[in-house]
Amino acid sequence: MEKIIVNGGNRLNGEICISGMKNSALPIIFSCILVKGDCIINNVPKVSDVFNALEILSSMGAVAEFCGKNTVLINTDRIDDTISAKHLVSTMRASSYLMGAMLSRFGKVKMPMPGGCNFGARPIDLHLKGFEALGAKCFCDGENVEIFSSKKLKCNKITLDKISVGATINMVLASACLNGTTVISNCAKEPHVDDLIAFLNCCGAKIARNGTTVVCQGVKALYGKEYTVFPDMIEALTYICAVGICKGEILLKRVVPYQLSYPTEVFKEMGFEITACGDTVTVRADEIFGCDVVTAPYPLFPTDLHPQFAALLCFSRGGGCIREEIFPTRFAYVNELRKMGASISRLRNMVYIKEAQLTGASLDATDLRAGASLVLAALGAAGESEINNVNYIVRGYESIVEKIADIGGKIKLIKGD
Ligand code: UD1
Repeated sequence: MEKIIVNGGNRLNGEICISGMKNSALPIIFSCILVKGDCIINNVPKVSDVFNALEILSSMGAVAEFCGKNTVLINTDRIDDTISAKHLVSTMRASSYLMGAMLSRFGKVKMPMPGGCNFGARPIDLHLKGFEALGAKCFCDGENVEIFSSKKLKCNKITLDKISVGATINMVLASACLNGTTVISNCAKEPHVDDLIAFLNCCGAKIARNGTTVVCQGVKALYGKEYTVFPDMIEALTYICAVGICKGEILLKRVVPYQLSYPTEVFKEMGFEITACGDTVTVRADEIFGCDVVTAPYPLFPTDLHPQFAALLCFSRGGGCIREEIFPTRFAYVNELRKMGASISRLRNMVYIKEAQLTGASLDATDLRAGASLVLAALGAAGESEINNVNYIVRGYESIVEKIADIGGKIKLIKGD
């Protein structure tokens, strides 16, 4: 089994080039099911979720492969409606996008329940309710989901009961090619939703987002084009936390600074110096003070930054509190950080974190962002840490070990047998 070994205590200095956003690349890859001809997608991160998404499409008969360093070629002209790589569907939340895409293309889909990071219940009721509003029938027994429509789906007005990235994207996928206009209210505003919309529009769709409302004017067909995925805001924010923990100065290249706005203001309040210039951000940190945050849908504080921010708070003067409002049981990282000497108490969906001296330990990543938080904490801890279950981390961070080593972190990947 692979392990990451970290020797903590080094300052960080240098440049990091931010990869393409995993959570944009995945819906864009699955959305190619709706598109005729070749799609060329640039800035796709080489992370295991992406490889798995490509394998799912290949198993259906598509051409879906990397044809350049971070460029994929996808052609789904010859796919059929059978998803053969079922085992991969249940490893990844983004496989839920097969529901909207297959329903649009074939009028039906049968697949295992989408998987994903295990930080509590990941229901799909909002997705199914939305599909039903378009005229589909949905059956779900907890293990498999089957959706079909005996007649052509009909456009409608859909109001999502709760803001959901996944349900918003699935409604967009299901309605992009309907006859007529579908209005989706209470949508998520995450950059990955806009990235998918921009890709589909580039292929000929007529979709507009105005605040939390998305209007899809259905088109007859979509045609393959070349598109470049947005940079990964969570990856950028993760490395900002790393600088706060280790101190130093780094230049983040290829970012979209406005997408980082809210967390950047929080970091500045904590004592970071952060300056944006074009598509770069310079981050400097010396003494960092704690603060309290509450996770919420974009543009507010992202739940996908919660575990990494918890690691940062361990190294901040005065510590702070995190209230988790999206996934109320996303706290698997707590026990691992405690093994290093972290002082964290949890009450329901809140953690209170005090400043502490952390020392290296043997740690287990329990999910993607929890894994990232352990890497960050290990970079700031005294002595050596070993992080197991690297497979979770490589689901979403491209070249994390190389990128941190390049800016001075003492980190290496030990290959398994
Ligand atoms: C996506 C991201 C994930 C991120 C999350 C919130 C991908 C592949 N994953 O996940 O990294 O943490 O957004 O930013 O892009 N909910 C329901 N019923 C549903 C769907 C969701 O109750 O049918 C709830 C969820 O339990 C959660 C909230 O809605 O409390 C938001 O979840 P959602 O935005 O859907 O997250 P995902 O799309 O699964």
